[in-house]
Amino acid sequence: MKLVRLIYASRLIAPLAKSDAKQILKTSLRRNNALGVTGYLCVSPTHALQCLEGPRDAVNGVYNLVVADKRHFEVTLLRYAEPWRRLFPVWGMGYTADLATAAPESARWHDASGFNPFLVETDLVENVIETLCERSEQVELRA
Ligand SMILES: Cc1cc2nc3c(=O)[nH]c(=O)nc-3n(C[C@H](O)[C@H](O)[C@H](O)COP(=O)(O)O)c2cc1C
Repeated sequence: MKLVRLIYASRLIAPLAKSDAKQILKTSLRRNNALGVTGYLCVSPTHALQCLEGPRDAVNGVYNLVVADKRHFEVTLLRYAEPWRRLFPVWGMGYTADLATAAPESARWHDASGFNPFLVETDLVENVIETLCERSEQVELRA
């Protein structure tokens, strides 16, 4: 089995409603668990940054589903790698009112409206998403 790690950023059409967040959490837990896909989804009012890890076919399949979701756009692949281990052994989802407060280290990742994951350098994006995971408000993993 080839383990892959995929990281993308996107812009939300609008801040995710509670019901949308719940639906995403519920489906993701069901599908990703069944496929052996783990990772972390970090959502702010304006952006999403997600890491998907697991068997290559499974990760690619989930990514294709996510890309087609009309709740976000400009879904942009930032990184695709074959790591030797997972950064995120379980699937998780976190919310942060402003990604800037969760990852305030670098002003160069900010634009006028706050943290912008599109500005993160590709080779730093794994560190950034790990930091976000540590500092974001975790969405309860109850479906
Ligand atoms: C930012 C974002 C991240 C998502 N991440 C996942 C995911 O990791 N796994 C998943 O199955 N669906 C995810 N979804 C939901 C899918 O886009 C889609 O709504 C869902 O898979 C539909 O599944 P269903 O047809 O079984 O209800 C995500 C949606 C958004 C907007």
